[in-house]
Amino acid sequence: MGKSIILIHGLLSILLISLLQAHVVAVRKHYIVYLGSYDKGRNLLDDPEDITRTHQDMISTVSKKKDYDQHDSSNKLIYSYTKVFNAFAATLDEEEAKELASVWPESKSFSDEGFGPIPKKFKGRCENENDPTFKCNRTPTAKLTQTRTIVQTKPAPVVAEFSSKGPNTITPEILKPDILAPGVSIIAAWSQDPNATMSGAYFPNSGTSMAAPHVAGIAALLRKLYPHWTPSAIKSAIITTATPLDNSGMKMHEDDMVHEATPFGFGAGLVQPNQAMDPGLVYDMTVNDYIDFLCAHHFNNTVLELFTKQYAYKCPQSVNILDLNYPSITIPDFSGSASVTRKLKNVAQPATYKARIEAPPGISIIVEPNTLVYSKTDQEINFKLVFSSDVNHLPLDYQFGSLVWSDGKHVVRSPIVIKAKPRATPLKH
Ligand SMILES: *[C@@H]1O[C@H](CO)[C@@H](O)[C@H](O)[C@H]1NC(C)=O
Ligand SMILES: *[C@@H]1O[C@H](CO)[C@@H](O)[C@H](O)[C@H]1NC(C)=O
Repeated sequence: MGKSIILIHGLLSILLISLLQAHVVAVRKHYIVYLGSYDKGRNLLDDPEDITRTHQDMISTVSKKKDYDQHDSSNKLIYSYTKVFNAFAATLDEEEAKELASVWPESKSFSDEGFGPIPKKFKGRCENENDPTFKCNRTPTAKLTQTRTIVQTKPAPVVAEFSSKGPNTITPEILKPDILAPGVSIIAAWSQDPNATMSGAYFPNSGTSMAAPHVAGIAALLRKLYPHWTPSAIKSAIITTATPLDNSGMKMHEDDMVHEATPFGFGAGLVQPNQAMDPGLVYDMTVNDYIDFLCAHHFNNTVLELFTKQYAYKCPQSVNILDLNYPSITIPDFSGSASVTRKLKNVAQPATYKARIEAPPGISIIVEPNTLVYSKTDQEINFKLVFSSDVNHLPLDYQFGSLVWSDGKHVVRSPIVIKAKPRATPLKH
């Protein structure tokens, strides 16, 4: 049945598969309602939301609840497949499932209203009888199957279509997003209040709000392990140990399975909690580093005092946001040469780290020094990245690369993002 199922289960399998297996049984069951295939990778209808609305309508027509409301249907719909094939996964009781299986063309679900053209490969019949004024209904054959749990599917993860993408429009010098975490059809704790519209121990849900708790949980675990670490150290550990590769060892893809994703989709990559426990080195920051960041944005003392309270803070003469000790490096206005400084703190045993650069196309990067020798824990060492390029051969759109520090055991990886300053059009002679 193809890629989209692999997709959701692939994402699910990362952290929450045990919940799925242990608890989702009970009254309602999960079904996949298959309505036909599309051409590979092609978006049939202009708006995938239209397809999803049709799926919600189909559920609503079989819903026993007479005073049916949209909210209930969107809760029953687990996943709407809008790409490779037309199908949806839903939580239904047996009666609803049986009713869906017997398709009746006069149902509102199959009206043509709001539909684009009928798919080329659509296996349906036109049931306008001999009345040419009757709009040709779609008469899909629905096939219902029980869902199966598939683990270790490849490739996984992929970047969900709805996931917010970079660049950062407010502070383009800071890469956003920072990292990727599981967020599609996550089986999460649900309201046990019997008066709630939908109640039960667990329910699958999707969105950034499902990815954020994974990251918050990892931060809480790190906080417990290292109570003296700053929030920046925890954040750095999560970011520098994330992976930009999927479980096939290839560059991660968008969920169309065609386009390679970029740091604007996944930041540093997918979170890896076990690696984050032992990052080796961290890009640490103090409260003053954050206040300097506000200084760089030219906030006045009245605003700064909201953060510093009584404590009088004197902004440095000049602050370069590029030098903020952030675990990623972004130069949004590159004019052919730039220099960026960072500071790395050793949070493990004494070790020697060597730098490895994967430079964005058309740009040369030198690391000074390219070896960091740590003789003790908590020692901090500064380094500098020097960027240069023949600006006339520099691509104008965003380019991506990475910096990796490794002692052979730890891998401390930072994404590098560069965009050339727009060039003046050369004058004609
Ligand atoms: C559910 O609603 C009823 C009636 O309003 C109320 O008596 C009961 O306490 C509610 N149950 C919960 C768990 O809130
Ligand atoms: C400081 O900035 C805030 C916000 O822009 C503004 O409302 C306030 O008047 C400024 N204060 C001074 C002393 O300039």
